Amino acid sequence: MTNPDQIEPGAPARTDFASDFLWGCATSSYQIEGAGREDGRAESIWDRFAATPGKVRDGSSGLVACDHYHRWPEDLDIARDMGLNAYRFSIAWPRIVSEFRAQPNAKGLDFYSRLVDGMLERGIQPWATLYHWDLPQYLQDRGGWAERETVQRYLEFVDAVTRRLGDRVRHWITHNEPWCTAILGNFEGVHAPGLSDFATALQVCHHVLLSHGKAVPLIRANVPGARVGISLSLHPLRPASDSDADSAALARHDGLRYRWFLDPLHGRGYPAETLQRVGAAAPAIQDGDMDAIGVATDFMGVNYYFPETVAGAPDHAPLDARVLPPPAGAQTTAMGWEVAPEGLCELLGRIHADYAPKELYITENGSCYNDEVRADGRVADVQRGSYLARHIGAMKDAITAGVPVKGYFAWSLVDNFEWAEGYLRRFGLVHIDYTTQQRRLKDSGKWYRDFLRQP
Ligand code: FCB
Repeated sequence: MTNPDQIEPGAPARTDFASDFLWGCATSSYQIEGAGREDGRAESIWDRFAATPGKVRDGSSGLVACDHYHRWPEDLDIARDMGLNAYRFSIAWPRIVSEFRAQPNAKGLDFYSRLVDGMLERGIQPWATLYHWDLPQYLQDRGGWAERETVQRYLEFVDAVTRRLGDRVRHWITHNEPWCTAILGNFEGVHAPGLSDFATALQVCHHVLLSHGKAVPLIRANVPGARVGISLSLHPLRPASDSDADSAALARHDGLRYRWFLDPLHGRGYPAETLQRVGAAAPAIQDGDMDAIGVATDFMGVNYYFPETVAGAPDHAPLDARVLPPPAGAQTTAMGWEVAPEGLCELLGRIHADYAPKELYITENGSCYNDEVRADGRVADVQRGSYLARHIGAMKDAITAGVPVKGYFAWSLVDNFEWAEGYLRRFGLVHIDYTTQQRRLKDSGKWYRDFLRQP
């Protein structure tokens, strides 16, 4: 047993948390499954994007990835041996609906059915995400999320999946990080489908939120005792200075980065100042949309990695604000992301104060480091273990302060395809050798295991 104190002296103990607290890891379909052309899986926007030269840094794709589609029993064994009592995974829409408006693909549904059975056999609670960015390319060819029709297609997909798995899966996340879907994919162009149009991004965002709102009652109708939520990527925000210009920029950035999502999801509509600010780029909204989006959910999923420092930046469209690199001297990960555990506590406190969701789950939190397998076979990723322990500590502080956090999912179970960064970035608690597909528990994974084994 590795001594937890070797990684992070003073780290919290499992017994500091409720006995029914959920401890998991998270993954997503495109990042781990591979089997890109098997069993009727359609092309996804990430297949197309990754095949476009210059889009993914190492020129790679998710075609093989961690080969989880075939190796899932081994991966679930590792999860069980780590002591996880929950696992967050996502369902690849292109596996379930192979062609435009086709009947659900039995082979795709069977795969997730086996996977869910595998979790239950190992005492692991399944948490299914219905959209983690792998839109079928045939829908993108018709305009993708910018088209209202995609909401209807999503609901058909959700209906098929929840009918099939709803007898065993109670916990559903409608979408992963709509900000990334909308802004990274359609405005910044660094994620699939690689578009760079602000108005398109806001229309995409509206349809994604609408599809969430409409999926909630559908899932409840199909799944006895369903518990449904959405996962947002959020950052605590800090002004670059105490100047009026930077505080005003921070408020503008906050309007789009935080309130644009949390306000409508809590029945308050889009923030008026931001709507005014985006002007003609505002989305087309139909009667009833905002009521649908504001449907009550059972929990809020929070994905936290790092805080953002915001400065005024005239001519930096559309908000005259920009996010600065981490402050000089800040500790950072190999992604260049600031390590700030207290930011998690701050963020949770703010969400609780602003919206008081009934329950919160950390649905992602983790760190990237350039791991090496040593001659003795060990991956001594002390920094990742420390990141994990310190963020669990910050989560404990938030709970002590009264925030109802009920579970934690580390990103990620295994190293995987990190989107536009390809395989250059490792976030796993388990190391993957992409040549042999060998899995190897890193020291951070051993720390998590030992933390979970504490009496
Ligand atoms: C999140 C994504 C996840 C992974 C981590 C590092 O934004 O949801 O798929 O890429 O970042």
